Amino acid sequence: MVKICCIGASYVGGPTMAVIALKCPSIEVAVVDISVPRINAWNSYQLPIYEPGLDAVVKQCRGKNLFFSTDVEKHVREADIVFVSVNTPTKTTRGLGAGKAADLTYWESAARMIADVSKSDKIVVEKSTVPVKTTEAIEKILTHNSKGIKFQILSNPEFLAEGTAIQDLFNPDRVLIGGRETPEGNKAVQALKDVYAHWVPEDRILTTNLWSAELSKLAVNAFLAQRISSVNAMSALCEATGADVTQVSYAVSKDTRIGPKFLNASVGFGRSCFQKDILNLVYICECNGLLEVAEYWKQVIKINEYQKNRFANRVVSSMFNTVSNKKIAILGFAFKKDTGDTRETPAIDVCKGLLGDKARLSIFDPQVTVDQIQRDLTMKKFDWDHPLHLQPISPTTVKQVTCVWDAYEATKDAHGICILTEWDEFKNLDFKRIYDNMQKPAFVFDGRNIVNVDQLREIGFIVYSIGKPL
Ligand code: NAD
Ligand code: UGA
Repeated sequence: MVKICCIGASYVGGPTMAVIALKCPSIEVAVVDISVPRINAWNSYQLPIYEPGLDAVVKQCRGKNLFFSTDVEKHVREADIVFVSVNTPTKTTRGLGAGKAADLTYWESAARMIADVSKSDKIVVEKSTVPVKTTEAIEKILTHNSKGIKFQILSNPEFLAEGTAIQDLFNPDRVLIGGRETPEGNKAVQALKDVYAHWVPEDRILTTNLWSAELSKLAVNAFLAQRISSVNAMSALCEATGADVTQVSYAVSKDTRIGPKFLNASVGFGRSCFQKDILNLVYICECNGLLEVAEYWKQVIKINEYQKNRFANRVVSSMFNTVSNKKIAILGFAFKKDTGDTRETPAIDVCKGLLGDKARLSIFDPQVTVDQIQRDLTMKKFDWDHPLHLQPISPTTVKQVTCVWDAYEATKDAHGICILTEWDEFKNLDFKRIYDNMQKPAFVFDGRNIVNVDQLREIGFIVYSIGKPL
C-alpha cells in the first residue's frame, strides 16, 4: 500500500488529502499538523474549516484510509510521498524582501524535519505556493542532510478556491506536476501522476519542469486578480459616466477570447493568496532586474486598495460626510461566500475605515466567529496569514464593534448597511422589514452587487452599488 503524508492540515492539506483518500482507496493518507486543536477538530464532528461537501468526504474515509495526527515525524518517516502544504506568508519581519517576499520559515523547518526523520527514499511534493526556484533550496536542504537517503522533489501547486474546494478537486481544470528532467525525476512524476490518474483524465494532468510549475501557480493567481482589478477599475469609470458595470462586464464576457468568469465588480478581492502571490511575483521580478514588469503587477494590488478605500469613503461621504456614532450594519465579513476564512478580507479595510471615522459597527456573518472578527480588526497587516497558534496575538476588544447572529438584529436602528460578502441568504432578506426598523434616511452600500437596486429604492432606501448609476 502506498503511503502518503501531508504536512499542514488546513484549507489545502485537509480537503486535498481527503479527496485523494476518497478516490484512491488503495492509498493510506495521513494529514499531520503541529496544531493540536486543529487536528482534534479534524478528528471531531466540527471540522476546523467550513467548506461545502467536505464533511461528507471526510466521513467516508476517516479511520479507513484517512488519518489526522499530530505525530508528524512518525507519519513522515513511514510515507512514500510527503506533501508539504504549510503556510508561505509574506515576510513581515525586517530584512531582505520584507513586505513582499514569501516567508519560507515554515517550509524550511518542514524540509529539515523530513531530512532528519526519514529512513527510506521519498518523493517530497511542494504543494504550498512558493517563489520560483524554491525547490532548488529545498533540494539543497534535503540532500545536504539526507544521510544517504534519496529525495525527489516535485512541484504540484494547488488551484482550488475556497468555498468550491471539493468540486474543484473532484473536477480540476488541470493538475500540474513539475519535476527534474532526469530518469529519477521522471519516475517520481509518474508516481504522482498515478495517484491523480485514479480520477483525473490524463489530458488534464500536465507535466513541466520544476520552475515552470512554480511560476505557473503565481501566474494564474496574478491573471485572476488582474481580471478583478480590471473590472473594478471599470466600475469607477462606470460610476463617473453613468454606465452600468454589470452591463459592461456582460458585454465584455461575451467575447469568447475573454470569457465570463472573474468579471464581477466588487468591494475588492480578499484572501491572502492573491495579494501575497502577486507581491511575491513583484519581488522576483525586482530581484531579476525586471522593474517594469514588477511595476505592472503592482498596479493590480494598488487598484484593489483603491477599490476598498473608495467604498469606505463612499459610505462616509454619502452619509453627510460623517458616520461618527452612527450605527452601520456590516453584512458579511468572510472574503467570499461559503467560507469562514477572513484572511485579508476587504471587510477588514472597510470596517477599519469606518471605525476610523468613529462609526458603531454591528457585524453579522453566518460563518465567522466574534473572536475572529475582533482579532482581525486589531491585527496588523500581514499578520493574517500567520496561524495564530504559531504567532499568538492578543486581541484587544474593539469597543465600537458588536457581532450578532442575525441580519435583522444587525440592521435594527442602523443608519446604513454595507454588504461585504455575497452570501446567498442576503439576497433573500426581507428588506421592507429591515427598512422599517432602520433610522432614516436608510442607506444600503452593496459591495457585491447582489441586491435589486430598483426594488430597494422603491422601498425607500438610498442605494449605492459598485459601478452602477446612482
Ligand atoms: P494555512 O496557512 O491555513 O495553514 C498552514 C498549516 O500548516 C497550519 O495549520 C500550520 O499549523 C501548519 N504547519 C506549519 N508549519 C508546520 C510544520 N513544520 N509541521 C506541521 N504543520 C505545520 O494554509 P493553507 O491556506 O492551506 O495554505 C497552504 C499553502 O497552500 C500556502 O502556500 C497557500 O498559498 C497555498 N494555497 C492555498 C489555497 C487556499 O485556498 N487556502 C489554495 C491554493 C494554494
Ligand atoms: C484563489 C484562486 O481562485 C484559486 O485558483 C487559488 O488556488 C487560490 O486563490 C489560492 O492560490 O489560494 P480563493 O482566493 O479561495 O481562490 O477564491 P476566489 O474565488 O479566487 O476569490 C478571491 C477573491 O476575489 C474573493 O474575495 C472574491 O470575492 C473576489 N472576486 C472573485 C471578485 O471580487 N470578483 C470575481 O469576479 C471573482
